[in-house]
Amino acid sequence: MEENLLNLKNKAIESIRLSKSKEEVNQLRIKYLGKKGEITSILKTLGSLQAEERASLGKLINQIKNEVEEFINKRFEEIDEEVYEKIKETEWIDITAPGKSILRGRLHPITQIQYEIEDIFKSMGFSIFEGPELEDDYHNFEALNIPFDHPARDMQDTFWLENDYLLRTHTSSVQIRTLETLKPPLQGISPGRVFRYEATDASHENTFYQVEGLMVGKDISVANLIYVMKVLLKEIFKKEVKIRLRPGFFPFVEPGFELDINCLICNGKGCSVCKHTGWVELLPCGLVHPNVLKMQGIDTEKYSGFAFGLGLNRLVMMRYGIDDIRHFLSSDLRFLEQF
Ligand code: PHE
Repeated sequence: MEENLLNLKNKAIESIRLSKSKEEVNQLRIKYLGKKGEITSILKTLGSLQAEERASLGKLINQIKNEVEEFINKRFEEIDEEVYEKIKETEWIDITAPGKSILRGRLHPITQIQYEIEDIFKSMGFSIFEGPELEDDYHNFEALNIPFDHPARDMQDTFWLENDYLLRTHTSSVQIRTLETLKPPLQGISPGRVFRYEATDASHENTFYQVEGLMVGKDISVANLIYVMKVLLKEIFKKEVKIRLRPGFFPFVEPGFELDINCLICNGKGCSVCKHTGWVELLPCGLVHPNVLKMQGIDTEKYSGFAFGLGLNRLVMMRYGIDDIRHFLSSDLRFLEQF
């Protein structure tokens, strides 16, 4: 009996020694020490023995049980150690290796100038108003005093969708959305993407960016418009910029203007950029047409306003001397990485 027990112990210890994983060790624990394990079952048969024999065998079995138990715990620790060694071999880190440089993203030049313009206007107490790119005929045309049969519709070739929906041709549609929700006095700008159904070339894109400006309040006049424009241009170009207004036609402003700036390339002396006139056309603007205000239920005896539409692509092109508008949407890193 004793010999059997010692054999059993050796067998158990040998198999534990050969085990490779904790799961395997656990299986062996069950096999030998579990409720129905080989060592446990022998312990259960002791009852049928003579008292003396029972005592000595019992002692031996308990001793074997403890030894096996201890061996199992030791094996657990060894396995941890082995796994750790393996990881060290395969997943080591060379802390002296030079770092990999990380590619940094950056803001698109249009986004950069948009944020700058937002800051300038916020500092003058303007809010940022947003509107949808998918618009309807009413907000893009009709409410802007451009009725269905008005020739001005031809000025802006339109991507028409189903059910009178369209891709907005200008951010002026946000003027209407703003007047629908807020009461004057109000002032805000609306930067955004606009779309025209056009053949593209160096100065035409089907998708570009505008910032709409709108201010409605008591006694708002062309003087307010000029002041705000001057502040904007001074901040953007970091110097005093001379401006002039020429008459311009847009159905939603009266009077309407084209605002020109003194050519910054030649300081007004005349060069190829300003076509030797000394002036560069920058943005259309004007006083909000009374029809537009009336349609939104605003009392035109009490309130008036100005609006402008700044083309962001043009502005960035002038600032950096970019000669082709198609660069903006090209996603060409050689272009984008310069900003
Ligand atoms: N929405 C006009 C355009 O895109 C520009 C504009 C805006 C003109 C505001 C006057 C006032 O052509």
